Amino acid sequence: MFKSLILTSAFFVSATQVVVAQDLREVALDIFKPLPSTVPSVRDNPITDAKIDLGKALFFDPRMSASGVFSCNSCHNLATGGDDNLETSIGHGWQRGPRNAPTVLNSVFNEAQFWDGRAADLAEQAKGPVQAGVEMANTPQNVLATLNSMPQYVDWFGSAFEGDSDPVTFDNFAKAIEAYEATLITPAPFDAWLNGDENAMSEQQLAGLEKFVDLGCASCHSGVNLGGTGYYPFGLIEKPGADVLPEGDKGRFAVTETADDEYVFRAAPLRNIAVTAPYFHSGKVWDLQVAVQIMAESQLGEELDNQSAAEIVAFLESLTGEIPAVTYPVLPAETKDTPRPSG
Ligand code: HEM
Ligand code: HEM
Repeated sequence: MFKSLILTSAFFVSATQVVVAQDLREVALDIFKPLPSTVPSVRDNPITDAKIDLGKALFFDPRMSASGVFSCNSCHNLATGGDDNLETSIGHGWQRGPRNAPTVLNSVFNEAQFWDGRAADLAEQAKGPVQAGVEMANTPQNVLATLNSMPQYVDWFGSAFEGDSDPVTFDNFAKAIEAYEATLITPAPFDAWLNGDENAMSEQQLAGLEKFVDLGCASCHSGVNLGGTGYYPFGLIEKPGADVLPEGDKGRFAVTETADDEYVFRAAPLRNIAVTAPYFHSGKVWDLQVAVQIMAESQLGEELDNQSAAEIVAFLESLTGEIPAVTYPVLPAETKDTPRPSG
């Protein structure tokens, strides 16, 4: 269906550029969605300014890790695209984790979190890294002891969760982080173009968009985040080599224990992809053009020449958005009761 629509738009090339652009926009609006201009709502977690401010403090606070070294921002650095630009992340005790860190930017629009979708939403997700041995290596009890030792945090939880008889809980910790993450949305030239601004994207980027749809990339990378919703085998047509797809990580198989889910991963969301190298869950590929060519071959059985791949890369660059201004938060001072760093 995409193919025939795109052929229609190719036909109009001989008419005027405007007709082509309008036609392509109609096709694109059927498949993708511009980012909303305001903070989206989140299930079971009304978003308030007090919650956002608390979540921001928690996101930047390294004392949420056992060692006192790692904050969420260590691996999801908001100054570098919301990720750590490493092949796989380094966490507690200088250990290297098994997977590349995805960006937190726009993660609120993913239907499930992690490369294998094992967390349903951001609040569930936020409880993972705090406890993961290779990330922050902490326990909920120790996080709560740390928070309760600082009166400023206790006040902030009280304001963010007014009406709760016991506001300082691990659930509320996760909800506050989720509220902050919901503000990390990055409108990009692609959104401006979808919203009608003819000049927001270059001709090369529009040509890349057309290829992205025509080839079938958009059948998996669609919606507001151009991915982040469905699961597919990595290597649907041709399995990449172990240098890109290490055999030990079977993706969703570990979640569902169904043979069909071996090497199945969530179609990665592609917003800000140009600033979040290296690529794939293995982080083995540093060049976006190479990543695009691997995708074309492994998922679609197409060998993409350099020019077509460069056009798609140009389109992907139109997904680099404006990161909200972030003022570094001043965090509550620790007290004599604050648990000491360990490990
Ligand atoms: C995944 C947030 C701490 C490394 C994610 C995702 C989110 C997130 C939202 C899923 C993104 C997606 O699926 O597209 C947070 C928060 C943290 C935190 C709120 C603090 C509480 C860390 C730390 C590290 C880290 C300290 C590194 C040591 C990773 C990695 C993944 C990930 C490797 C992918 C794991 C997988 O898919 O199995 N994080 N993160 N994160 N994060 Fe974090
Ligand atoms: C990952 C682009 C087609 C499913 C990726 C990544 C890029 C990309 C750049 C890496 C994301 C990152 O590292 O954060 C493209 C392009 C395509 C295409 C340009 C067309 C040529 C498809 C199709 C499917 C698909 C058709 C589904 C059948 C996936 C999956 C991942 C992914 C499952 C995650 C792989 C992993 O576990 O590392 N895609 N894609 N893609 N894409 Fe595509």
